[in-house]
Amino acid sequence: MEYTDKVMDHFSNPRNMGVIENPDGYGKIGNASCGDIMEIFLKIENDIIVDVKFRTFGCASAIASSSVSTEMVLGKTIDEALEITNKAVVESLGGLPAVKMHCSVLAEEAIKAAIEDYLSKKK
Ligand code: FES
Repeated sequence: MEYTDKVMDHFSNPRNMGVIENPDGYGKIGNASCGDIMEIFLKIENDIIVDVKFRTFGCASAIASSSVSTEMVLGKTIDEALEITNKAVVESLGGLPAVKMHCSVLAEEAIKAAIEDYLSKKK
């Protein structure tokens, strides 16, 4: 399977790439087999994600997955964001090749890790 136009678009022109200083939530997830790493930074107000940035050292699918997932969580409540699965990320990209599915899992896990970081700091 070839990459979809949407994957190519998000890879060539990633949305919300960068970092947030002093984020309310921070998640960093790596995949041991390919060595790729994804970081998610969240700014959260009243349990709503008001800003999000990502930094990904990884393949095209990982960069496209992180880019599209930042668009998916922006403006969402943390509960809504926690429900975003890697399947939803893949659907939003119009599909990923089977060998690239794990790249979308990084996005789901990095978002969850960042929200869990926020929740643990809140306590
Ligand atoms: Fe590992 Fe894409 S090859 S995240």
